[in-house]
Amino acid sequence: MNQILLLGGSGILGSEVLRHLIVWSFEYVAPTSTDLDIRDKEKLFMFIAKLKPSWIINCAAWTNVDGAESSIKEARELNSLAVGNLGTASGLFGCKVIHISTDYVFDGESSNPYDESSSVNPVNKYGESKLQGEDSLLLASLDSYVIRTSWLYGTSGKNFVKTIVGKAIQNEEVRVVNDQVGSPTSARDLAGAIISIVSNQPEPGIYNYSNEGSCSWFEFAQRIYERVGANPSLVFPISSDSLTLLAGRPRFSLLSKEKWKSSGLAMVPRWEDSLDLMLPEIVAELS
Ligand SMILES: NC(=O)c1ccc[n+]([C@@H]2O[C@H](COP(=O)([O-])OP(=O)(O)OC[C@H]3O[C@@H](n4cnc5c(N)ncnc54)[C@H](OP(=O)(O)O)[C@@H]3O)[C@@H](O)[C@H]2O)c1
Repeated sequence: MNQILLLGGSGILGSEVLRHLIVWSFEYVAPTSTDLDIRDKEKLFMFIAKLKPSWIINCAAWTNVDGAESSIKEARELNSLAVGNLGTASGLFGCKVIHISTDYVFDGESSNPYDESSSVNPVNKYGESKLQGEDSLLLASLDSYVIRTSWLYGTSGKNFVKTIVGKAIQNEEVRVVNDQVGSPTSARDLAGAIISIVSNQPEPGIYNYSNEGSCSWFEFAQRIYERVGANPSLVFPISSDSLTLLAGRPRFSLLSKEKWKSSGLAMVPRWEDSLDLMLPEIVAELS
């Protein structure tokens, strides 16, 4: 049976993966975190042993970057230990795992896009916990995929685009950092990318996937204001140093998609095009 077990199906990304599984008529099971807390190794193994999925798609994670600084144990339980257990389960029960990781495994000191073999050096506890998760999974399972992505947004959950659209609709002024550069990524595109792994089954290992192109958070916010018909001069640039966030952030987090593209997987649309496609839904929801 070609069953898919989707973990984290209520999140920004997971909800888009769920939508794809439905649209493409995959057989799937998507337990909530109440049905299956993936930190509980025994229950996790029992669940997988009973279901016998062919694939596990893991979109579950501790994603509170600043919160991880003071709750490192909790972040590790979900982002490292549970992910390692998925790797062990993959070996024991013969299923492939697709796990999502982050540009925050890098320190942002490069000026060239990071590829899959670039040196990692996370600058915060969240990034550390995600890197440990990658390592544990790949060590435990030869049948695993790690997709590193960046700056995710979608119609579900709390995310930058929804926050900025809310401000733009109210014609509010916003101050946004202009010294961190990365690639916004539509959760819908990434969900399609995940499905293309299931369909094409490339070599297991690490793959980068983000939308094409780059911008600063300030430029990203300006584009959102423009596209929803608000005045982009209400968006003001600030430096990261002026914020008192608990966790550091990489200043540069572009991911090279050369490996992805040469593997014949899903297309990599430009971030501006994908944003334009999703904005009407977000505006309609928030208006
Ligand atoms: N957001 C970004 O900008 C970004 C950037 C780069 C990489 N990523 C990575 O992309 C992936 C998806 O992120 P996201 O932003 O979509 O996450 P999200 O919206 O925060 O969703 C996290 C999901 O994890 C589930 N979850 C939490 N604790 C759980 C537990 N103990 N057992 C089972 N499920 C649990 C949540 O379920 P409940 O709703 O029931 O709590 C939710 O469905 C993550 O691996 C993240 O590290 C995200």
